[in-house]
Amino acid sequence: MANNRENFGSRFTAVMAMAGSAIGLGNIWRFPYMVGQNGGAAFIIIYLLAALFLSLPIFMAESIIGKASHKSTFGAMETLAPGTKWKWLGLITVASPLIIMSYYSVVGGWSIEFLFKSLAFKFNSPDVTSYFGNFISSTWGPLICHTLFLASCAIIVLCGVTKGIEKFSKITTPLLFVLIVVIMAYSCTLPGAKAGITYLLKPDFSKIDAQAVSMAVGQSFFSLSLGVGTILTYASYIKKEENLLATGLGTSAFDLLFAIIAGFAIMPAVFAAGIEPGAGPGLIFETLPYIFGKMGVHTPVLSGLIAILFFVTILFAALTSAISMYETGVAYLIEQKNFSRRNAVLVIFAGCWAVGILCSLSFGPLAGVKVLGENIFGLLDKFASNILMPLGGILFTVFVGWKMPKPQVRSEISTVIYYLIKYVAPLGILAIMITQFIG
Ligand code: PFF
Repeated sequence: MANNRENFGSRFTAVMAMAGSAIGLGNIWRFPYMVGQNGGAAFIIIYLLAALFLSLPIFMAESIIGKASHKSTFGAMETLAPGTKWKWLGLITVASPLIIMSYYSVVGGWSIEFLFKSLAFKFNSPDVTSYFGNFISSTWGPLICHTLFLASCAIIVLCGVTKGIEKFSKITTPLLFVLIVVIMAYSCTLPGAKAGITYLLKPDFSKIDAQAVSMAVGQSFFSLSLGVGTILTYASYIKKEENLLATGLGTSAFDLLFAIIAGFAIMPAVFAAGIEPGAGPGLIFETLPYIFGKMGVHTPVLSGLIAILFFVTILFAALTSAISMYETGVAYLIEQKNFSRRNAVLVIFAGCWAVGILCSLSFGPLAGVKVLGENIFGLLDKFASNILMPLGGILFTVFVGWKMPKPQVRSEISTVIYYLIKYVAPLGILAIMITQFIG
């Protein structure tokens, strides 16, 4: 089975696929509102440190495991540490991307709805602010969009690693950069945009507390798709002779660059419209349509086109990320359970669709169902970002730093990264998890 495994064709396509997984709703939807809530540039500085000292080592650890085993999560643990408890890490990381996928595809679905709305030039009226709340709390619209989004992922993953994932990512990821730069150029030239640019550049350290640090770290993991085995699975499709460090640095740099550009695409527009930057998760779905509506009064065609570009960007970014989570589950079923790709795609579709329905309804008919004060969507997001991702990050770095043979690991990375993997990342993440729980 493993012998006729597909591979990414080149370093470029491997980086595009991994960057495609990394660049997603996390960069466009989560990053700007977290920056907005947590002190602008001060948050970005913490985020950069977290990316360098914690996220990059986890990224490398996952990549080393994937490349060394040539298997996806569960198979990798069975190959590199047969008959040990490490298989549990393999099992957890089969489940965790699918948990994220279930609620991620609900937000992916929202972007489909907003793309349709922008195609109909529906944002060209200033009274669109209540639209988001009304839409997500309704029953059928979000469910249909969730289904459409998941079905689109299923089609890409069904086409396989080379003809589906690689082909899609190699076109879409560069396109995302072009689109976000165009949007940034528009946003930064709006009257009043300067305040947004200053906000992103001027650090407000008074907003940085333990909570902000743990949000920056969590966001960095989420953004690089870490701790849940997707990077491991993609790395297992990298050719043996490929340089992992170059792939890792390339992917992390693209992800970081995209998040920063997205910040400059969104914040200046937010300030130009005189909106509160810490508006929270509704920032891109509530605030931006409002801005497009406001601009639309004077320049209806231009703002309409920018709205379309914006929601196309969000949708494609979400798709390239979602297919990496989808593939992690599919690869497990193909490798370990001898499923055909088609059946594996169908089974994962059914599972994520069902859980996604509950997540979608948790903004409407199931809004009253709360666990630990969170609705179903929020609960899964918190569970994945605050527990599964950091836990996976610790275990992957411990596995590479302490369990795998040192020469095998050292042949892939420099001394500095090795020590980051062995000590800094696991201890750093543990410390942050403990602070989170006692705080
Ligand atoms: N990195 C993606 C984003 O920033 O939107 C989210 C993500 C993708 C998380 C894949 C986890 C994952 F396995």
